[in-house]
Amino acid sequence: MPECQTNAPFWVALCNSSDLVDGGLAVPFMVRYQGLACRAFAIRFQGQVHAYLNRCGHVAMEMDWQPDRFFDPTGRWLVCATHGALYAPDTGLCQAGPCKRGLIALETREYDGVLHWRSQYPFQTLEC
Ligand code: FES
Repeated sequence: MPECQTNAPFWVALCNSSDLVDGGLAVPFMVRYQGLACRAFAIRFQGQVHAYLNRCGHVAMEMDWQPDRFFDPTGRWLVCATHGALYAPDTGLCQAGPCKRGLIALETREYDGVLHWRSQYPFQTLEC
């Protein structure tokens, strides 16, 4: 029986930990959020992994103008390409620009060299 049939949270392997470079490209993945298939992404910042829905807090649209590139040129902020909203990579909070709210975070963990995200309400795998 697939884990998602129990409604209990479970970890979903996403990529090797080494795939995420500090301030570098994100690793994208798909989740089901509020019943809809949505893009999400994982990044590494100051050694820690963070994951968010790919949905701007200004207008609910995807943020990357080049695939998987969310960091600004300084590597300090996540930037929405449409109107330039800036978010803190470690919290997803809006720091500058037109965003009215922060990014929606997903729980992650690194275990044995593998990055996982947590399938737990309101996030599910597409198969659930
Ligand atoms: S849609 Fe992201 S800043 Fe406007």
